[in-house]
Amino acid sequence: MAASVSIESLSFAYRNTGVRVLKDLSAYIEEGTFVALMGHSNAGKSTLCCAMNGLVPRFFRGNYKGRVMVEGKEVAQSGIVELSKLVGLVLQDFEAQLFSTDVEREIAFGPENQRLSREVIRERIDRYLSFVGLEKVRHRDSSTLSGGAETTPCHWICPCHGAPCSCYG
Ligand SMILES: Nc1ncnc2c1ncn2[C@@H]1O[C@H](COP(=O)(O)OP(=O)(O)OP(=O)(O)O)[C@@H](O)[C@H]1O
Ligand SMILES: [Mg+2]
Repeated sequence: MAASVSIESLSFAYRNTGVRVLKDLSAYIEEGTFVALMGHSNAGKSTLCCAMNGLVPRFFRGNYKGRVMVEGKEVAQSGIVELSKLVGLVLQDFEAQLFSTDVEREIAFGPENQRLSREVIRERIDRYLSFVGLEKVRHRDSSTLSGGAETTPCHWICPCHGAPCSCYG
């Protein structure tokens, strides 16, 4: 099976500190797999997620060495907008990633920004709400959903944006 993500000798130090957070890291993630990355606090897990969607090194600048390829595209050479179609990212403080007044609008936010047609967006909302069995929360204020069975919409909205890779960092 082809590698969907390939990380080759990646090293990264944030510009403001100069501390090397990622050190000569190599990894391959195959299409169709679910990978859990474990490590102690400050090990660099979130930094690595950002290196997969281009926030590192395009937004978080620093000393970057090595190469990350996602679906055949070299991350450091690609724009963040282009990469957002390939890699979704849910950050630790996921509630800060909610933008809208209800779940339906929340799901639509990403596809709208990709300028997809209303029909495609509607179909995605229907498909993903049905997939996670949460049609009943369609018109709820997303910030009021419980952390249990309903959970925050961020976690399942991410794949709805159509990106083949989702990172939860
Ligand atoms: N924007 C930034 N600028 C400078 N240093 C940063 C920045 N973001 C993270 N760091 C530093 O990089 C290191 C790795 O942080 P990162 O958030 O990637 O770790 P983590 O493994 O995700 O930790 P946690 O388990 O707490 O989520 C830490 O020392 C952190 O202080
Ligand atoms: Mg983290």
